[in-house]
Amino acid sequence: MELPAIPPFKTKVVEPVYFRTKAERRQKIEEVHYNLFNIHSDWVIVDLMTDSGTGAMSEQQWSEIMLGDESYAGSESYFKLIRAVKDILGFEYVAPTHQGRAAENILFSATVKEGDVVPGNAHFDTTKGHIEFRKAHAIDCTIKEAYDTSLRHPFKGNLDLDKLEAVIRKYGRERIPFVNITVTCNTVGGQPVSLQNIKDTCALAQRYGIPVFMDIARYAENAYFIKSRETDYADWSIRDIIREMFREVKVVWMSSKKDGLVNIGGFIALNDHDLYEQLGQFTIVYEGFLTYGGMSGRAMGALAVGLYEGIDFHYLEDRINQVKYLGDQLVSHGIPIQEPVGGHALYIDARKMLPQISQTQYPAQLLAVEAYIEGGVRGVEIGTLLADRDPDTGLDRLAEMELLRLALPRRVYSQAHMDYVAATMANVAERCNELKAGFKITRQAKILRHFTVELERV
Ligand code: F0G
Repeated sequence: MELPAIPPFKTKVVEPVYFRTKAERRQKIEEVHYNLFNIHSDWVIVDLMTDSGTGAMSEQQWSEIMLGDESYAGSESYFKLIRAVKDILGFEYVAPTHQGRAAENILFSATVKEGDVVPGNAHFDTTKGHIEFRKAHAIDCTIKEAYDTSLRHPFKGNLDLDKLEAVIRKYGRERIPFVNITVTCNTVGGQPVSLQNIKDTCALAQRYGIPVFMDIARYAENAYFIKSRETDYADWSIRDIIREMFREVKVVWMSSKKDGLVNIGGFIALNDHDLYEQLGQFTIVYEGFLTYGGMSGRAMGALAVGLYEGIDFHYLEDRINQVKYLGDQLVSHGIPIQEPVGGHALYIDARKMLPQISQTQYPAQLLAVEAYIEGGVRGVEIGTLLADRDPDTGLDRLAEMELLRLALPRRVYSQAHMDYVAATMANVAERCNELKAGFKITRQAKILRHFTVELERV
């Protein structure tokens, strides 16, 4: 008999899970105004809110925690990080930051100004937030296939080059500081970008003299998809694919809480010394001295190790297979998801599950709340709540898709947990047609409202 695939690790430390009744959860979620960010984690059974900073570190990473050099300047842990980034990503200069959005703040402080336009595939919400905060505009040039969840396209994170060129022609290179490629593309479902599309995008941008930046939070997962879905690169190593992805890219920034396999951290990496010096001024003002930015020595050491573990083929195969396993379970229960499944999460199409709920009543949030009540499974809405309001009109931007994201922490949950999540969603699906109305907003912040929004059942 063929032996089944198993995770390339075993458990050394465990965390308890607490169980509560459905009635208790129903009451709790009402108390916190139907915002899952307000739930205490011990009220959650399987926490799929995010794959960001929620992974389990290895024994080698924990060893690095003890070896952390906490010197204010010139920490050895910083040099470990520099060496790892240079070796894997091929960039000379590294500005550590406490997480991805801090990298965005520093990088955009030096590169984005009022009236600018930043085209790319769908920008993550903090990326867009930092662009709009500077009174600039983020323009989504993702291929249209990405927005049809049932359409199977291997690289739904790809940029539509015609759309991109039209944006460049319309605004002109003076108003476009860079083109942004996010790998994988979180907003449309953790969907990968093909190496061909990366090359074509870089070539197009170069023709207009515009640099390409890359948001590489999940670059290793993207490289795995290139290897497994793009035939030209089937025989390439993950490392070689990564180098090829970055060949023409001027700056990368990373929330290392994802493929860096650490609980906190981020960085900007580049080869341009002048730009690095400009970034340094903002690093010192916003984060900390250049050789630690926003990170402790021990966190930089753990990241230096995590970067290597995150590109290991067996690790990546297990990781992506777990996401696919849950995806297959959901599909077998008739639950509509973004297909093919992406790298870090399942995205359930709430409009298909709840066609009776208007987008103005946040159907994906309703699905998130029902999954929590049913099984204590916490996901997150990626829909109109997250899409927020148009900065010019102040009106809700109806999202292209209403999705419930179930993101899988790395090296944390077992196959049994996946079966539990699938059963939870199957039970929710069974009573979907009994749900007659969604939510209305009773309080919301000026930007990034979804974190703190308060809701009431309609
Ligand atoms: N870019 C991408 C593609 C992301 O997914 C995230 C975070 C960031 C930037 C910002 O990084 O959180 O370290 O400040 N994504 C998390 C998520 C929050 O749940 O998808 P950060």
